[in-house]
Amino acid sequence: MSETQRPHWGSKMGFILAAAGSAIGLGNIWRFPYITQQNGGGIFVIVYLLAVLFIGLPVMLGEITIGRHTQRNPVGAYGRIAPGWRFVGALGIISGLGILSYYSVVAGWTIGYAVKSIGGSLDPNGFGAFLGDWRQQIGYLAAFSLLTSFVVASGVQAGIERMARVLMPLLFLLMLGLIIRGLTLPTAGAGLKFYLMPDVDKLTTKTFLFAVGQAFFSLSLGMGAMLTYGAYLKKEDNLVTCAVAVVALDTLIALMAGFLIFPVIGHGLHKGGPSLVFVTMIAQFSHMTGGTVTAILFFVLLALAALTSTVSLMEVFISYLIDEWHMRRLSAVVLTGTLSFALGVPSALSLGAVPSLTHIIHGKGFLDIFDFAFGNLALTLGGLLMCIVLIYRWGFRHAADEVLGSSPKFRPFAQTWKILLQYVAPVAIAGLLIYCLVTGTGLS
Ligand code: PHE
Repeated sequence: MSETQRPHWGSKMGFILAAAGSAIGLGNIWRFPYITQQNGGGIFVIVYLLAVLFIGLPVMLGEITIGRHTQRNPVGAYGRIAPGWRFVGALGIISGLGILSYYSVVAGWTIGYAVKSIGGSLDPNGFGAFLGDWRQQIGYLAAFSLLTSFVVASGVQAGIERMARVLMPLLFLLMLGLIIRGLTLPTAGAGLKFYLMPDVDKLTTKTFLFAVGQAFFSLSLGMGAMLTYGAYLKKEDNLVTCAVAVVALDTLIALMAGFLIFPVIGHGLHKGGPSLVFVTMIAQFSHMTGGTVTAILFFVLLALAALTSTVSLMEVFISYLIDEWHMRRLSAVVLTGTLSFALGVPSALSLGAVPSLTHIIHGKGFLDIFDFAFGNLALTLGGLLMCIVLIYRWGFRHAADEVLGSSPKFRPFAQTWKILLQYVAPVAIAGLLIYCLVTGTGLS
């Protein structure tokens, strides 16, 4: 596709909302609260904020910069700045497809639970049966895949940007309403204390590792999503304000998710983990006045947040097919939608419906394994490789020139950015990766 035909965001704000839409998702509202709960509450929140600032932000700026400079999908982009390193982009688009496949399964649950809450049939004890019901799992996966495909098929401005412009403010308002509702509950005090009071005794190496992993997942880093969205930016758009705004919005929503969840569940000792939102929250909703309406809004909120993320995951593969294989957008969407649905089926069946998929290794099922391989290992590896390519292959000077071209005020901070990309981020990421490989633990 020639430069003139290449789609661009209607405005910088369009990019910020779409990229924030990518970043804000189940990672913020579903994953962040339970990872916080499992890692000691307040102390985790502090370490997470440090990871976002010193690792997430510089990597975010790096990815957007590579995208804007090359105006290409991840494979083409790495090929341009560092011939011989196209595989970094390839790793990214494969990871994106892998994440899209199982993420759409979890996203499907949110529609399932929204439907159940509308029908008044929410049951905190029904989660296991729901997961084991293959018809519902496949049905909701198909529904979510279709929804994602529909938005992506409509294009960058008319589909992705327009959706983000409507959904992101709506999401914010819904969340604000739900937080206010939660803060009036008798459980609010204990919940806030757990969330906000740091307990230094709970600080371990794992706290740091989980924080970095969560920052990557939550900010959509390491697989080229931000690179792809950055590639639709125009030369005059200020990259620094873009990166800062996306990181700030994502972090704000994660913190707000804590203010939403912890006051409702009270102290941190409830049954947590991935079922926190689907079991514990529902149990609490059922005791609340106005609980049904709150539950409906809550699951609609989760579904919307998930949709803006699956759209970005799909767009990465779509931009690759359009740039490198000259496919039409619609054909690319049909191909990618079918692929990710097919790849999602084993994940959807791995939650109880098919026993051989449910326990593959160490009691982990197909979905857990995909989350570990793509959502943890591949993202962090992709982030590490991005730093290496940017510093040692492309050269930091080129990256700095690209940023300074539209953000001259960034000059005094360029050296700090370089140190973070050259030393701080790679060392932290390599530590995380080695830990994952040695212990074999998934970070979710
Ligand atoms: N950031 C998204 C979330 O928090 C997940 C995601 C990861 C999206 C990687 C795109 C790429 O839910």
